[in-house]
Amino acid sequence: AAALKKKHLLADQKIIVTAGPTYEAIDPVRFIGNHSSGKMGFAIADELAAMGAGVTLITGPTAQVSKQQNIKRIDVTSAAEMLDACLTHYETAKACIMSAAVADYTPVHVAGQKIKKKEASLNIELKSTTDILKTLGDHKANGQILVGFALETNDEEMNAITKLQKKNLDFIVLNSLNDAGAGFKKDTNKITIIDRRLQKTTFELKSKDEVAKDICLKVAELING
Ligand code: CTP
Ligand code: CA
Repeated sequence: AAALKKKHLLADQKIIVTAGPTYEAIDPVRFIGNHSSGKMGFAIADELAAMGAGVTLITGPTAQVSKQQNIKRIDVTSAAEMLDACLTHYETAKACIMSAAVADYTPVHVAGQKIKKKEASLNIELKSTTDILKTLGDHKANGQILVGFALETNDEEMNAITKLQKKNLDFIVLNSLNDAGAGFKKDTNKITIIDRRLQKTTFELKSKDEVAKDICLKVAELING
């Protein structure tokens, strides 16, 4: 009975999830990336699908595969491509959960050919990428739910609250890199959820699948009232 009920918690709600890293091309063979595995985002997408949602999973390069069937997966490479895909689906989405580790900077010029080694040093000029989450937050419609992540090493809660407010989020999931057992390649995570009223909930260290349940239940709560 519990499983039956679970399947209806988010029935027919379209939800966007972003996952994984982005790769920013330097030349045809090199890129700037990061250590995001995509595990957290894929676990969230699976959990939302198990709750009946129509999930659009927009993911950077990753080895992850979805366990659930009813997930529409869109593979992207760069931050700019991820932005495009998010904007395409945002209007019709009830909620967005943005767990991707999006590059903050991207090369100004992408070399058409492989850069050869010549000098003793090489400078690559970078420009900032568009903040996808803030863009969505600036255009949030009534009733839309926006969830962000914050990965911090210091002043964790203060930094997370600043992001929550600046990006117009409904809640933010704070990951601290200071917690052993939390982080990019791990199968476990320890989170604190902070919502718009600055209500703070700290969870135990658990598997990313269990963490996904906590996050998705909070989303269902906000959607269903
Ligand atoms: N994010 C995004 N687009 C970007 C950068 C970040 O959508 N170009 C989203 C992430 O998916 C995450 C949230 O914003 O949900 C916070 O990302 P984080 O890197 O912690 O924060 P930034 O705002 O980029 O600030 P900083 O890296 O300086 O801490
Ligand atoms: Ca960032």
